[in-house]
Amino acid sequence: MTLGNHAWDQKELLGQIGRLPQLVRPINYPDGTPGRGFTILPAKNGRHKVMVINAMGRVFMDPLDDPFPPVEKVLNIHRLGGARMGPAGVDAIIMDMHAEASSEKMIMGHVLDGRVSLVVGTHCHVPTADLQILNGGTAYQTDAGMCGDYDTVIGMKKDAAIHKMLRKTPGERYSPGENDATVSVCGVFVETDDRTGLAKRAEPVRIGGRLGQSLPTAV
Ligand SMILES: [Fe+2]
Repeated sequence: MTLGNHAWDQKELLGQIGRLPQLVRPINYPDGTPGRGFTILPAKNGRHKVMVINAMGRVFMDPLDDPFPPVEKVLNIHRLGGARMGPAGVDAIIMDMHAEASSEKMIMGHVLDGRVSLVVGTHCHVPTADLQILNGGTAYQTDAGMCGDYDTVIGMKKDAAIHKMLRKTPGERYSPGENDATVSVCGVFVETDDRTGLAKRAEPVRIGGRLGQSLPTAV
């Protein structure tokens, strides 16, 4: 589970994240920040290793370290290709680029093309229609979208968000949308090549709620 700019909204996580290898916060937080910017976990089959990296963009976001150098550093150690790349080799790499600007996410996709299985953006809360396999074999989608209530303003109840935008005066506190009938699960399905770890097939996943449905053709 990757985090992002709301990683520390629940402050108690700061004291616990070090013990939770499934949780990944952006890799470009300053040195000394608790937690990890990437993790390597066994796949369900127990044989393959999957690496998950989270980085945060800087365009229209709070100031933060450059995301590209720490990602390069990790990819120089852990390479796609599994055990034949040595003990640090991994079988799949998923990179979550948590960013506002589509351009910054696309640049991360092109920079990592051929070296990771998937670059997928998050933070915008709406799925983009540009899922593709880049020239080097990396699957890419600018934003995965949110799993949540789409009859909202990016997941928050509409009225408070509309008031704030139109009136510029304090109003009701933001609270999450709760309308079950509109809730969707959004994501990306990627089949990787067992030898190279690159994408063979990539299909959007949208289930439930009011968005157009999309399921992988055959799993
Ligand atoms: Fe975010």
